[in-house]
Amino acid sequence: MSDAILKLTDVCYRYTDGTRALESCSLTIRRGTRTAVLGDNGAGKTTMFLHLNGILRPNSGQVLCDGVPLDYSRSSMRKLRSRVGMVFQNPDSQLFSANVREDISFGPMNLGLDEILVRKRVDDALLAVGMVDCADKPVHNLSYGQKKRVCIAGVLAMQPEIIVLDEPMAGLDAAMQEELTIILERLHISGMTIIIATHDLDFAYGWADKVIVMQTGQVIAHGDPTEILLREDVQNKLGAAPIVAEITRRLSLIGIELRDKEYLLRRKQDLLEALTAYRTQEKKT
Ligand SMILES: Nc1ncnc2c1ncn2[C@@H]1O[C@H](COP(=O)(O)OP(=O)(O)OP(=O)(O)O)[C@@H](O)[C@H]1O
Ligand SMILES: [Mg+2]
Repeated sequence: MSDAILKLTDVCYRYTDGTRALESCSLTIRRGTRTAVLGDNGAGKTTMFLHLNGILRPNSGQVLCDGVPLDYSRSSMRKLRSRVGMVFQNPDSQLFSANVREDISFGPMNLGLDEILVRKRVDDALLAVGMVDCADKPVHNLSYGQKKRVCIAGVLAMQPEIIVLDEPMAGLDAAMQEELTIILERLHISGMTIIIATHDLDFAYGWADKVIVMQTGQVIAHGDPTEILLREDVQNKLGAAPIVAEITRRLSLIGIELRDKEYLLRRKQDLLEALTAYRTQEKKT
C-alpha cells in the first residue's frame, strides 16, 4: 500500500465566532491516491482542506506532511504550498490579478522559474482548461465557470505534488466537467495525489479510489468507495446511493446480472456498456 503523504490526527478547529468546525478530525491521505470527500453543507470539508496547506492551524491535534508535523514557519509554509496546490470553493477567494495570464503566472513566478518556463507553464495550463482565448481578459469580466477554470489553471501551472480541489465541478458546464475529469485522470496517471470535495455522489463512486465521509466536523467513514458508499448507514447519512450501484442492484433483483463477481460497475459509462453487452448476449442465446 502507498505511504501517507498527508495526515490529520485529532484536529480540532474553532472559528473566532465560536463555531466548532472540526472535532477530533483524523484522516490519512496516501500518496498517488484519488480521494473524494463527501458530507453535508457545513460538515467541515472546506475547513479540513484549509488545514492541509496550513492556511488554518489546528487549535489542537496535528497536521503532518510526509510524517512530519507542520511547524507553520514562513519557510516551511512556502515549501508546503508549492507541494499542495489548492483550488478554492469560491473563485473570488483565489483570483487577485488584473488579467488571466497574470494570475496564472503568479505561482510559477514565485517559484523562481525563468520567464520562458513560466510562459510555457501558463500556456499549457490555459490550454488544459480551454481558456486560451481569454488569456488577456480582465479577471473581473469572466463568468463564474470561467473564473473556476482560471483557478484550476493557476494550480496546474504550479505542478504541485498534491492537488486539493474544493467542489471543482460546481458551476462548470457539462463539457468542462468532462474535460476536467480527463485532466484529473492525466494528473493521476502522472502520479499526482488528488483530493476533491464534492456533493456529487455518482462522481465520487466512479472516480475515487478512496472516499472520506464527514459529518459535523468529524470523519465518519473512510475507505474504498465500493465498501463505504454501499453501506446503508452511509447512504442514509448522505441521503442517497450511487445511481449506478442502485440500478445494478435493482436489475439483479429481477434476474439481470450485469456485474461479475470480481468487478463492480462504478461509472455510468460502464453501466451503459454492460447493458449493451447483456442485450447482445441475450440475442445470441
Ligand atoms: N469564517 C468562518 N467563521 C465562522 N464559521 C465558519 C467560517 N467558515 C465556516 N464556518 C462554519 O464552520 C462549519 C464548517 O464549514 P465548512 O465551510 O468547512 O463546511 P463544508 O463541509 O465545506 O460545507 P459546504 O458543503 O457548504 O461547502 C460550518 O458550521 C460553517 O458555518
Ligand atoms: Mg465547503
